[in-house]
Amino acid sequence: MIDIAYQGFGDGLEQDAAATRKIAAAMPETIIAASCSKNFGIYRERTGLLMLCAQDASKQAVNQGTLAFLNRQNYSFPPDHGARLVLTVLGDDALRADWQAELEEVRLGMLDLRQALADALQDATGSNRFGFVAEHRGMFSRLGLTAEQVETLRKDHAIYMVGDSRINIAGLNMQTVPVLAKAIAAVGG
Ligand SMILES: Cc1ncc(COP(=O)(O)O)c(C=O)c1O
Repeated sequence: MIDIAYQGFGDGLEQDAAATRKIAAAMPETIIAASCSKNFGIYRERTGLLMLCAQDASKQAVNQGTLAFLNRQNYSFPPDHGARLVLTVLGDDALRADWQAELEEVRLGMLDLRQALADALQDATGSNRFGFVAEHRGMFSRLGLTAEQVETLRKDHAIYMVGDSRINIAGLNMQTVPVLAKAIAAVGG
């Protein structure tokens, strides 16, 4: 089973699907859970899909029946609004091209923010130990801070992150990057 929730945020729409396609082509059966929450920006619409790829076409009826059973046990009728939005966008060449261009803008924006944060941390700490932030891909990175440092960031700098120092890069902007970097240096990160 593959859970793909950030397609388009890493190296591009096609590139991010490469491993999933390879596995689905090599395995007798693959279940793929794909989310549209992030790459369509519709987190609250609960939109995505569950797909079962089987090499053996004779299993199609039983697989379809199993999925139908699971659907009935789980939610029966999913919300339709978000799915209609996605279908409308993907089914129209112009809208689809707009979406792909915007997704690419978001992806490149996150890469710029990653580089800016790595540079600002280098300036603030005088070390390149946060260089990995620029190498990572996607929305999230763990900064490697201790729980105490995370707590001090919250208490003394009003900067909030998950206890394991995971941050959402897309939550930053070019104005807040240096503020964050200075605060991290101040708490000894
Ligand atoms: C890896 C992964 N899979 C799935 C989800 C959830 O997707 P959805 O919003 O479609 O339930 C998330 C985050 O929300 C995620 O990080």
